[in-house]
Amino acid sequence: MKIKVIHGPNLQLLGRREKDIYGELSLDEINSEISKVARSLGLDANIDQYNSEGDIVDAIGNAASKGIKGIIINPAAYTHTSIAILDAIRGCGIPVIEVHLSNIASREEYRKHSVTAEAVVGQISGFGKSSYLLALQALKEILV
Ligand code: DQA
Repeated sequence: MKIKVIHGPNLQLLGRREKDIYGELSLDEINSEISKVARSLGLDANIDQYNSEGDIVDAIGNAASKGIKGIIINPAAYTHTSIAILDAIRGCGIPVIEVHLSNIASREEYRKHSVTAEAVVGQISGFGKSSYLLALQALKEILV
């Protein structure tokens, strides 16, 4: 079963960026763990990172027509601002799970609210790379 994992802006800097908040692992290291766990669950994960809001909107909107059955997304900073991504999630016709490495509820005021959370099945926040791995498990349960 095909799924898509979308990493938002600046996540290509993982392992170098604010390590006290986001941890030591690079995006490649997290992605290989995601691929491994996805395979063990019978999921075929297509993983991409985008810095542009429009690219994320396109990726969400095109997913279903490419045979993708569900999406895991870390919208990063767009979480807190993007009605375009909210609308894309609402309109895409497949389940979407939102993840965050850090616990956004315990951070700055402007990070506490997720605009995109309104449209997702659920949100997993604060478990580092395990946020993605827990989301894989949850998506698998939704899709079977
Ligand atoms: C993040 C939290 C966001 O507030 C931030 O802008 C990010 C990463 C997280 O995974 O914890 O870039 O989505």
